[in-house]
Amino acid sequence: MFKKTISIKEWLAVLPRLLGAALFAGAMIAMPVSASLADDDDDDTPQYVVKDGMVNKATYQGFRRYHSECHRCHGTDGLGHLGPELLTPLKTMSYEDYAEVYINGRSEGVAVAGNVMPSFGTDVNLAPYMDNIYMYLKARSDGVLAPGRPERFDAPVLD
Ligand code: HEC
Repeated sequence: MFKKTISIKEWLAVLPRLLGAALFAGAMIAMPVSASLADDDDDDTPQYVVKDGMVNKATYQGFRRYHSECHRCHGTDGLGHLGPELLTPLKTMSYEDYAEVYINGRSEGVAVAGNVMPSFGTDVNLAPYMDNIYMYLKARSDGVLAPGRPERFDAPVLD
């Protein structure tokens, strides 16, 4: 997940996935393959799905978990509070860098003395949701998701 380079062996491991994607893409076969070659360390980057302003279940989980913990410092909707807003940094921050700060926190070289980012790598309530929160924040950062509680497009229909 944190590797910068990718070995032949790993390429072979991801090949079936790429082929699947290529088949799915049909006529666009050349495009996804070359895109994957270009940023070879993006393979494990979690992807949100947003349709008509509504999210998939995994991204919705991210919204919920973000607002159970992160919001007390980073503000409602990721807009900042005691800690920095996260929508601007997420535009340029790699998933690996996000994961690094999520898992290990940051206590040295912080912008405001004493205002530290806690580590969540061993937090049983939050460690499992690192990717979900990333999807949610990335969707917010990309401007495809409005503030507030999103609707789920894949929610089960209750009668
Ligand atoms: C106790 C307050 C607090 C909580 C809770 C908290 N953070 Fe932070 N976080 C901070 C502070 C303060 C910083 C900025 C540290 C610095 O100055 O570099 C930060 C930095 C970050 C950064 C790096 C931003 C950048 O520009 O480098 C990310 C990403 C982040 N937090 C994500 C999260 C997520 C996701 C959660 C919830 C799981 C969370 N934080 C919960 C206080 C907090």
